This record gives sequence, structure tokens and C-alpha cells, in this order.
Amino acid sequence: MNTAPQPPGGAFTVTRDVDIAVVTLDIPGQPLNTLSTSLAASFGTALDEITRSGARAIVLVSGKPDSFIAGADIEQLLGARTAQEAERMSRDGQAFFDRLEQSKLPVVAAIHGACLGGGLELALACAWRVATDHPKTVLALPEVQLGLIPGSGGTQRLPRLVGLQRALDMILTGRNIRAKKALGMGLIDDLVHPAILRDVAVRRARELADGARKPSRTAKGRGAAGVLLEDNPLGRRVVFRQAKAGVLAKTHGHYPAPLAALDVVRAGYDRGMRQGLEEEARQFGELTQTPEAKELMFLFFATTSLKKDAGVSDPAPKPRDIERLGILGAGFMGAGIASVAVQQGTIVRLKDTDHARVGKGLASVRAVLQERLKKKQLTRGQVTDMMVLAGGSTDYSGFEQADLVIEAVFEDLALKHRVLRDVEPALRADAVYASNTSTIPIAEIAAAATHPERVLGMHFFSPVHKMPLLEVIATERTSKEAIVDAVAYGRRLGKTVIVVNDGPGFYTTRALAAYLNEAGKLLDEGASIGSIDRALTDFGFPVGPITLMDEVGIDVGGKVGLVLSQAFGTRMAPSDAMRKVVESGRTGRKGGKGFYLYGSNGKKGDVDTSIYEVMGGRERRDIEASEVVERCVLAMVNEAARCLEGGILRSARDGDIGAVFGIGFPPFRGGPFRYIDSQGADEIVERLEGLNGRFPPRFEPAELLVEMARARRRFYPASGKPVE
Ligand code: NAI
Repeated sequence: MNTAPQPPGGAFTVTRDVDIAVVTLDIPGQPLNTLSTSLAASFGTALDEITRSGARAIVLVSGKPDSFIAGADIEQLLGARTAQEAERMSRDGQAFFDRLEQSKLPVVAAIHGACLGGGLELALACAWRVATDHPKTVLALPEVQLGLIPGSGGTQRLPRLVGLQRALDMILTGRNIRAKKALGMGLIDDLVHPAILRDVAVRRARELADGARKPSRTAKGRGAAGVLLEDNPLGRRVVFRQAKAGVLAKTHGHYPAPLAALDVVRAGYDRGMRQGLEEEARQFGELTQTPEAKELMFLFFATTSLKKDAGVSDPAPKPRDIERLGILGAGFMGAGIASVAVQQGTIVRLKDTDHARVGKGLASVRAVLQERLKKKQLTRGQVTDMMVLAGGSTDYSGFEQADLVIEAVFEDLALKHRVLRDVEPALRADAVYASNTSTIPIAEIAAAATHPERVLGMHFFSPVHKMPLLEVIATERTSKEAIVDAVAYGRRLGKTVIVVNDGPGFYTTRALAAYLNEAGKLLDEGASIGSIDRALTDFGFPVGPITLMDEVGIDVGGKVGLVLSQAFGTRMAPSDAMRKVVESGRTGRKGGKGFYLYGSNGKKGDVDTSIYEVMGGRERRDIEASEVVERCVLAMVNEAARCLEGGILRSARDGDIGAVFGIGFPPFRGGPFRYIDSQGADEIVERLEGLNGRFPPRFEPAELLVEMARARRRFYPASGKPVE
């Protein structure tokens, strides 16, 4: 092997393996390779030089560990101020990949690690794709998650390579495809061990140069049914119609990107690849300027910036490795936390009051792992190894070795005090103690501790293995060491972590309670359950507030309401309707009786109209959706602003992330603070004052909002990158 002439830019190194040029992409100073216009240009120059150098074929490989190309440079995209500017970027990308596809020298993509977005579009333009059989190797077109569509030929090349239905599934969901599955669907051509990736890629390049293999560009492995359906216009019409119905059912029409993707893919089938690419660039350009894409890109930047946030002010201590976890309470949440912990290799000890409960907890852990096994996300061997990590007891044996203890016993302060007092003497001097309470101020729990500096809150959401947020709660006495440990461990569990300061309901429970409470007030006024839930799902919440009450548990909601009304007075005073339903003993879905009917299999049915009697009035009317939305959403938004004003939240960014990932605030609206910015603080204050005139003092605007309206301030800059 010898070194060939180097292209400009420093992002590529070209070496020669006899007659094959091996191009290593490694953008200096960046953790990942991302595609930008300048990178494409310098790659173009490199291609010219390689062609002149007499090489017969090219292998493209990444120099980054465990990552091929992570996608397009989103910051560059954000810089596009008009649809036309973004459309031009798309055309540049398309032109470059066209060139790659038509290159005289066959190009083989040697893929190890994440191959996403523009990275996959590049691989699609290559003549052959070899990928490693490694858990880090995933392929996806995730643009739709940013409110966009693939803009460099992906909407055209992917269906041609893997067939219409599989391509639509990838483009409309943005889901990750692991290498083994990618091989089965023809997305890659070879699956190899990482150690031989380069060798196999070079061999394939040579075979392509020799004509011993033909470039891999057409759909394979679709099966007879797939071919029948997809290769005729009638069948395709059925596929497109079903896909559109699926998108609308899922998005309620709030997200323009998947619908645009369907149009663009269809244009490619109906009018050919050239027209398809035209449409792709045009729609890509337009989508970049939609509010939905702007909010989704904001969420992307906000989550990325959170990953770099240690959770405490500088200088931040280095977090310790949490290797052993003790969990108090093997119930719903305790077992849920254990199930994600063992998947990260943590040794877990579950403690409950009797063996039956411990056994039930361990069975729940196993059930979560089995579900992943069924989806082929884990192997049988992995499940066995993970279950070995989980143990249980009815005493504190094993807790003396724990680095972290998470308490998830019933929501009862006296009990929480008792278990803390019981376990603390057994713990190591540096062990962190976290409560998973959803409402009780951590300082009140820590009052029972000899070492309150090691006590904090780790508020997971249910179900733990699915919900992405972790809210870490620090009291005035919690040490920085304890906070960074909890944050780092939460991240290891795959969670998006916000750190908030202590107070009743912290941030998420408090903001959610204001919203749910307003729904209760609407019930007091005679609103029908359906009209409330419909209005808010139409606004973009995943479920309506009354359905959510059934899910969370009416009894749990009742307890939360009590704590918060004691803390915040009339503003949070529970509605009569809710109080009566709590008193009636209905608990919601878990008890099979709530606001809705539940079948014996737990399936939710219609509204249980007998509950209107419980609430004290059968007469119900449909309240205008705009009234429902205005009141419930503004109650939440105003409470979020109070949390920022009172120092519970450290930043608007954390408030937006917490609301979107923890309590279902519609992602395409960015979060409460982004919502305020989009409407203008003055407008929000005016609307709040209007409502407060009708329902004093519930809607009294947060002082912070009044101030911002007066000074015409925003939470985020009006253009450019929203958060660092
Ligand atoms: P759960 O009722 O399913 O489990 C509580 C467990 O604690 C039971 O298994 C019980 O036997 C056990 N326990 C009681 N006394 C104990 C003791 N002295 N030592 C060890 N274990 C003991 O309750 P869930 O839903 O898991 O809630 C636990 C905590 O998590 C509560 O503080 C709750 O507010 C909080 N939380 C609950 C969420 C939910 O959606 N269920 C969400 C977020 C937080």
C-alpha cells in the first residue's frame, strides 16, 4: 500500500491498495463526519484526482470510530434563510451524488457505525455497499424526524433499491435499520466482521472493476407479493393510499414532511427519476422553512446541547461509574428502572417487603427484556446475561455495595422517611440516594437523612423503558458530586436528562398538573369528556388530559393535586368533578374503571357515561375546541414560565425538552417557551389577562411574561442556531 496525492480540505486521506483507491473520510476536529456543500466539493475534486491517478475503483471508508457518516450538516441547513437557498443545497447534494453514481470508477461504500441521512444517500449512490455486523452499524433516513425529507436523492434511490413499501417505511418513520436486516432487504450487499470490512470492500471494488460483478442498484428480495403489488401502477396506488392513511392517523395532519415524502416518492414512480429529484429538491427547500421543521430542529439542537451539560455550574466534578444499583420497591417503577439498568450492564438489587413482590418485580424485568428479544433487539444469550445481573431481597443485603440507591416505594412521605432511615446506615459513604417521587419535594424527604448532601430526585416516567426523559432534582443541599453522578448515569440509561431545582411537583409534574386541573375545571362547567380530549389531541398532544388521568391513575392524580394545592393555593385547587371521582374510588385503567370503559383485556373503549353521575351532572355539552385548548395549554405554559421565574428551571431549553419528552407537549410546537416565542410574549400575556378576567386568579400571568412582553424579549434568538 502506498500513499497517493492528497485532496484539499484535509477531510480525506487517499491510499492505494494496488489498483484500488481507498478514501478515508475523517473531518478534522469533529467527533462525527457530516456532509456539507464544501465537503461534497472537495470529494468531487478527490474523485477527479483518483481517476487521473489510474486507480480502477474506489472504496470509501470512515476514519471515525463506530460512525460512518451521521448525516447532513444541520447547522448549514439552518443557515438557509429562504426555501430557494435550501433547494439549492439539495440540488448541489443531488448533483454530487449523481456524479458519484455515474463515476467511471465504481465506488464501494464500506460502512461501519451510523450511516444516516445524507450518509445513507451517499451509500445509495455507490455501486456496492458492504457493512459490518456490529450493533453500532445502523442505517436510516431520519430526516422526517427533523420535519424534512431526504434531499440528496434518497427519496428516489431508496425505493429503487429496496422496493416501495420498505422504502416508505424507512422514509416515513426515520427508523434505524440494523445491518443484518439491511442485508435481508437488499439495502446492503455484504455483511462482514469489522476486522475484514476494508479487505472485502477492496475485493468487491476490484470485482466491479473487472466486470465480475454488476453494480447493485435494483430491488431484490421483495418476495412475490411485494413485486406484484409494487410493479404495477394499480398496486402502487394501494400502497400510497394506505401509507397516507397511516401517516394521517399517526400525525393528525400536524406534520407536513411525511406527506411531502409520499408525494415526492410518487413523482419518481409516475414521472421518472429526473422529475422525482426536481420535486425532492423543491419540497425539501419548502419544508426547511416550515415552523414544524424549525421546532423539530430546535429540539435536535436542544437535546444535543443537553448531552454536553453536566447538570451543575462549572467546575463540574467528574462523574463516577455506577456499577451497582439498589432499588427500593419492586413495583411498577422500581422494576421498570431495573429493566433499563440491567441492559446497561449494571448489577441491580431489588428490595421489597415480601418475596412475592420481589418475584413479581423480577418477572416484570424479564418481560421487558423478552419483548426486546421478540423484536430481535436482543439475543437469547443477552437476555440471560442481563437477568443474571438482577437480584432481589426483602432485606438490605447487597445494598452496602451500591453506588446508587433509587427509592420507588409508595408515594407516602412517612414511608419514604422510614425506608431512608432504614437503609442509610447500610450504605457506603459515597453512595447517592435518589427518590423517584413525582411530587414530594426532595428536601422534605431528605429531612430524614443523616447525609442530605447525597440525596436528590431521579424522576423517571412510566413506562420507564419507553419514556425518554429523566428529571433530576437537586435540593439546596445536594452536592455537585451527587448531581453529576445521577445525570451521567441517567444518560447511560439512554435518557434525556434535565436538572431542575427542588419544589412541589418540580417542573414536569407541576406544569402537567396545571393543565390537567384546567381540564377538571372544564368538567365542572359541564364539558363532555370527549370534547376535552379531542380538542387537545387535535392540538397535538398524544392523548387527551382525561385519558391521561386514567393512564396515570385517578388516585395518583388525586394525591398529586392535594400536594400541589397545598403548595400553590387556589391556583391549583382541585376541581369538584375530579375530587368527586377520586372519592368514588375509581382508579382509571389499572382498576378497569375510570373516565373511559375498559375491556377485560384492558383495551380502552368509549367514555363511561356513568361517571357523569359521579361528577354531579349528567347534562353535558361539547365545549368549543378553541376554548379548551386556550385554557388548558395556557395554564401549562404559564406554569412553565413560573417555574423558570422561580428558579425551578435552569433554562427555557430544559423547560421545552421536559415538556416535550416528559409530558407530551406537541414536538412540532417546540415546547412551552418556544410556543410563547412563536406567539409573542405580549400576545400570551394579553390572552392570559383575558382568561384571568373570567377565572381569577388562575390565569394571572407569570411576572416573567409580563416583563418580557414589556421589554419585547424572547427566550431564544429569532434566527440562527437556537441553543449552543
Ligand atoms: P407501586 O405501587 O407499583 O410500587 C411500590 C412498591 O413499593 C410496591 O411493590 C411496594 O410493595 C413497595 N414497598 C412499600 N413499602 C416498601 C418498603 N418498606 N421497602 C421496599 N419496598 C416497599 O408504585 P409505583 O407506581 O412504582 O410508584 C413508586 C414511586 O414512583 C412513587 O413515589 C410514585 O410517585 C413514583 N412515580 C410513579 C410513576 C407512575 O407512573 N406510576 C411515575 C413517576 C414516579
